[in-house]
Amino acid sequence: MSTLPPLVELHLHLEGTLEPEFIMRAARKNGIDLPWASVEDLRSRYEFSDLQSFLDLYYANVSVLREREDFSQMVYEYLRRAQAGGVRHAEVSLDLQVHTSRGVPLEVAFGGVRDALDVAEERYGITTRLIISFLRDRPPAEAADLLRRLIVTGARFDGIGLDSAEADYPPALFTEVYEIARQHGLRRTAHAGEEGPAEYVRQALDLLHVERIDHGNRSLEDDALVQRLVRERVPLAVCPLSNVRLRVVDVIEEHPLVRMLEHGMQVSVHSDDPAYFGGYVDENLVAVRDALAITPAQEETLLRNAVDAAFVDADRRAELH
Ligand code: HPA
Ligand code: ZN
Repeated sequence: MSTLPPLVELHLHLEGTLEPEFIMRAARKNGIDLPWASVEDLRSRYEFSDLQSFLDLYYANVSVLREREDFSQMVYEYLRRAQAGGVRHAEVSLDLQVHTSRGVPLEVAFGGVRDALDVAEERYGITTRLIISFLRDRPPAEAADLLRRLIVTGARFDGIGLDSAEADYPPALFTEVYEIARQHGLRRTAHAGEEGPAEYVRQALDLLHVERIDHGNRSLEDDALVQRLVRERVPLAVCPLSNVRLRVVDVIEEHPLVRMLEHGMQVSVHSDDPAYFGGYVDENLVAVRDALAITPAQEETLLRNAVDAAFVDADRRAELH
């Protein structure tokens, strides 16, 4: 019997790993007034009606990150949790614009994250890739400026993504940003088809030339698109617990993951914003295994799909397989 590949995390927002304890501690340290009375009070707010209701809380809480060490600490705590859950490779995304637009210097936010990622393999046995995600509900020109600034300053990162409020912010708006990334050899992913229509998945493929899609659930509404995703083996980084908490699906038992597998789509399971949605990647896998009666063969497919979708070279891919 073949051994299973290790866990590979491909869809994780670093700011979504801030646990309530971390947020309250950092607020106290940095003298920031948050409207929450306690860790319990903050945790009790983790009830969301849609993506925007989550984003409002997520963006409010990042205000506790001020110093370079805060950014490093966020990443160390994530890596520790990932290691405990069996993760061996993690491609993490950073919403850098959120920090620069509130006055945090680029070197502080980016540098702090980089400091921690640079020791991830040695300290935690986890290889990493860093994806800078742009916010689709902020001006595309701001994203392009930031990307150019990162490139000219020689910042070390591996790819770009597109996230935040999806409805009414089509991928087409970011064609130039993705073209800059492509010209500089950066890897490309984008959120599409979480709340936005299947058409946004098409745009991400045709206009942004993405190499994988974050979420992609609503592709299922378009049969021709499903056939294309299967034919072109486009990876979809799906986040089941996130989908339940943000009401993309009603209950985990109705998650379309098995349907996607049965179509032959290249789906894998990830966590999105684990501190907010009730589970890291290992817990997402347990949740679908239990609720969807995933077979051992299907679970192996999910794990192998993640390895195949990772932005790694052939040697690392072979090691992970
Ligand atoms: N969707 C879109 N944008 C995000 C998310 C998400 O789940 N998490 C953080 N930014
Ligand atoms: Zn996401």
